[in-house]
Amino acid sequence: MTINAEHQAANTPAPTDLADLRGGVLQVGPLMPMVQNAIVADHNAVRVPDGSDRQAFLSDHGSKFTIAVTSGKIGVDSALMAGLPNLRAVVNFGVGYDTTDVAQAQARGILISNTPDVLNDCVADTALALLLDVFRRTSEADRFVRRGAWKAGNFPLASKLSGKRVGIVGLGRIGTAIAQRLEGFNCVISYHNRKPVVGVDYRYVGSLTELAAGSDALIVAAAGGADSVKLISAEVLAALGPQGYLVNIARGTVIDETALVAALVSGALGGAGLDVFADEPNVPESLLELDNVVLLPHLASGTVETRQAMAELTLANLDQFLTDGTLCTPVAR
Ligand code: 8YV
Repeated sequence: MTINAEHQAANTPAPTDLADLRGGVLQVGPLMPMVQNAIVADHNAVRVPDGSDRQAFLSDHGSKFTIAVTSGKIGVDSALMAGLPNLRAVVNFGVGYDTTDVAQAQARGILISNTPDVLNDCVADTALALLLDVFRRTSEADRFVRRGAWKAGNFPLASKLSGKRVGIVGLGRIGTAIAQRLEGFNCVISYHNRKPVVGVDYRYVGSLTELAAGSDALIVAAAGGADSVKLISAEVLAALGPQGYLVNIARGTVIDETALVAALVSGALGGAGLDVFADEPNVPESLLELDNVVLLPHLASGTVETRQAMAELTLANLDQFLTDGTLCTPVAR
């Protein structure tokens, strides 16, 4: 069985038999082979065409679908949801569902599920990998060895991570898993949320700028979506400063990416470790030149074990909805 990123299924031809829509399941965008194969085999799911064929497909067949199965990368946007008048549930592969029109779903009573918790470890592990990398310059040092530069002299000194002040933006399930790992590095942990988290000892800072000013590194673990757009502004980045590092494993939209690039290029920010970008898979060209930036292709949950668990939870949500109209892991409303 192939367990891999959902984009590997991108070229699988969409099934076209609309005569036997057991359950009315619509596939939206590419999915992991394990999920796609199951929804086709068990429910004769049909994939909505992308591009110019979509509107005609929705006019002819949109009313036949009651459940959409999608991924956080693609989601069910406003126009697609509007073209599915009988939609009752969106089953989302991924913890983030910011690509789905949540407001319209709420207004129409459409339920949404995601895949929380099963990816906490891997996303938190990736945050620590990025943090260690930007502090200790390991990717840069790897490039140094590969190009033979070691023979000409030693690699410059890096910064120590252990014991540093780290601010977490978004102390939810993933933010908490990151904090637990940082404890192992004796880091001094503070956080910013809309409200303090009950029962947590880490220092709460109500102002993001203040959190940045008092931190050696900020790790962004806040949910994407309309409420968090450009939360990390030029002002927050300036407060983090030339000795400060930023790690983002949340969504590119949470950061003012233009301001981030400008701060990194000018040296107003010390460095960054980025798994997510505003317009994936497009990465701002000027970042490619910078040695103090570590760039990952949105892979934080991308391990065999975690993607398998996400796939199983996605299918469990679908099965439960088809059985009794409820979801195992509905998103908070
Ligand atoms: C997934 C993610 O790769 O869960 C999330 O929110 O960002 C990743 O784990 C992505 O959502 C799948 O499309």
